[in-house]
Order: sequence, then structure tokens, then C-alpha cells
Amino acid sequence: MYSRIAGTGGYLPQQVVSNSDLEKVMETSDAWIRERTGIVRRRRVGAEESTVDMAEHAARAAIAAAGLKPEDIDLIAFGTVTPDLIFPNSAVLLQARLGCKRGCPAFSMEAACSGFIYALSVADKFIRAGEAKHALVVGAETLSRITDPADRTTAILFGDGAGAVVLSASADPGILSTHVHADGAHADLLYCTGGLGRGKAPGTMPPGDFIRMAGSEVFKLAVTRLGQVVEEALAANGLEKNALDWLVPHQANMRIIQATARKLDLPMERVILTIEEHGNTSSASVPLALDAGVRDGRIKRGELLLLEAFGGGITWGAALVRY
Ligand code: COA
Repeated sequence: MYSRIAGTGGYLPQQVVSNSDLEKVMETSDAWIRERTGIVRRRRVGAEESTVDMAEHAARAAIAAAGLKPEDIDLIAFGTVTPDLIFPNSAVLLQARLGCKRGCPAFSMEAACSGFIYALSVADKFIRAGEAKHALVVGAETLSRITDPADRTTAILFGDGAGAVVLSASADPGILSTHVHADGAHADLLYCTGGLGRGKAPGTMPPGDFIRMAGSEVFKLAVTRLGQVVEEALAANGLEKNALDWLVPHQANMRIIQATARKLDLPMERVILTIEEHGNTSSASVPLALDAGVRDGRIKRGELLLLEAFGGGITWGAALVRY
């Protein structure tokens, strides 16, 4: 028994924040942001929109693309670090919104930008074990709510959005393998100060907690770890680089993506890029890019895709997929 990607969906909030908009509120320039990151625009939620709201749009699109109905879904795995509530988890909220099977397992995974790959990996294993037939896998984030608007090293990078896939049980291999990793020794390089740890007085949840990042250290680690994990995924399947049709990377920084593509000897025409328009949407970035490539007809059934992501934790991972 295998799982295969039966349908994809994506959603972006309406508000567009361009580099020129950011130039007006902080010491930066469109040229600097483009050159150092490849980002031109990113989206931002309005005050009345949340992670689960966006996830619902993406999930409905993925379920429809799979030719299914919400009641067919029997597992929800949701990657996010910007949940609507501390609990119930975002997958549970989504289950009720969509009207999926009552009683089906629904859980979220905090693996930062690798959240979708982690969720995909777990959902795939449920299906392979025969414990689920149609799993909804979501990555959705409202990073704008945990980004310091005055911090030019992070505010230029992050955006909001949601992506989803439906994995269905299949006799033929779809997800060939997944590879997920973490190294908590680097937790201090990219983190959000929010949470309920030391220094928080009982009964308080202070606002103003933001992402903190050591950009160039994160950059170097991302290049190294992503280079390793894409080779690991190919080797695990006895495949050569030239077997790949598409790289569907986490959209953190164009230079990181280019480094991974070089490692794979893949021309940039074979890389699905959304970074220019979306910025870094954390766990939403890979499913949004996948959905973009599927919907515009570039990614075709039967093609071999390599999905990868890297994020705070640090966490990283990859999935080799016969689409
Ligand atoms: N606009 C203009 N200048 C900026 C700037 C901005 N938005 N942000 C930083 N700078 C300045 C710095 O202050 C520094 O100035 P200095 O040389 O006078 O000290 C200079 O640009 C270079 O900074 P540095 O941090 O070395 O730049 P960089 O080439 O590493 O690029 C990032 C910065 C953040 C774009 C890059 O490190 C990066 O993308 N890292 C990975 C981040 C990431 O992907 N995080 C998410 C992982 S999931």
C-alpha cells in the first residue's frame, strides 16, 4: 500500500505588500530585497482572517481537485507555527469547519517551515499502515502576526498563505519516500519569542513576541542541510539526479533555492518558483508552490518531484514523489 497525491489546493490573502511598500516604512530598498532574497511581493491577512480561515480555502480546493467530498477525509495533518488558538489544534478546527468525518484523527505539527513535509511524512505513514484512506495535509501560516514590523531582517522575508494536498491510498507508488530531520542545537538561530516558557508570569500572555533570526547562519545551514537531504532522498530510492522532473522547494531565499538546484544539476526552468510573489510563507510554501505548478500545467501526472524544506528548530526534510 502506498499514498499518492490525489489533489492540491492553495490560498493567498488579498492584501499585497510590495518591496516598495516596505521601503516607505523601514530602511531598505526594492533592489536590496530582490538581490539578496528574490522576493518582490508578499501577501498579508486582514484583521478578520486567520490561519484556519486560509486553510479552509486551500483544503476545499484540494478536496475538490481530488474528486472527493470533505466527509471522505479520514485524517488531517496540519503544519503550522501560527495556530488560531493554543488548543484545540488547527486540524481539529479545520475538521469541524469542513465537516470531515467526526472521530477521524486531526493533529498539528510545529516544525516551522518544514511543517508541511513533516505532516506529509506522518500522513503517508498512516496510509501505508492502512489506518487512513484519504488524508488531508495542510500547511498554513499567518507569519505577519509574529513578524516584527520594525525588523528589516525578517519583515522583508515573510508572507501569509495556505496550501493543502489530499493523499489517497493507492496500489501504485506516489510518495516514494519522506525524510525528516531536526537539530535542536541550533534552536537559537531562528525562533519566536512567544510561548509559555520561563519568564512568563502566571495568567499572562504578553503581546509583542516576534520571530528572531540570525540570517546568515540560517542561510549557510539551509544550503548544507538541503543539499544533504535531497541526495538522501535520491539515494534511498536508488535514483540519479537526472531522473528528476521538478524541484518543488521551500521558498525562503532565491539563492538557497539556486544552491539546491545546482547540487541536483537541475536548470532553474525545472524549479517551481513562487518566491517572487509569495515570499516565505513557512509551512504553506511547498504546498503553494506544488499547487501553482500543478494548476498551470507544468507538473504532469507520472512526473518525478522532489519536495524539500528547511526551517526553525532547526528542522529540514524532503519527499520524493511520483505525481
Ligand atoms: N535592507 C537593507 N539592508 C539590510 C536589510 C534590509 N532589509 N537587512 C539587512 N541589511 C543589511 C545588514 O544590516 C548588513 O549591513 P552591514 O553590512 O552594514 O552590517 C547587510 O545588509 C548584510 O547583512 P547580512 O545579514 O549579512 O545579509 P545577507 O546577505 O545574509 O542577507 C538575509 C540577509 C536575511 C536575506 C539572508 O541572510 C537570508 O535569507 N538568510 C536565510 C533566512 C531564511 O531563509 N530564513 C528562513 C528559513 S526557513
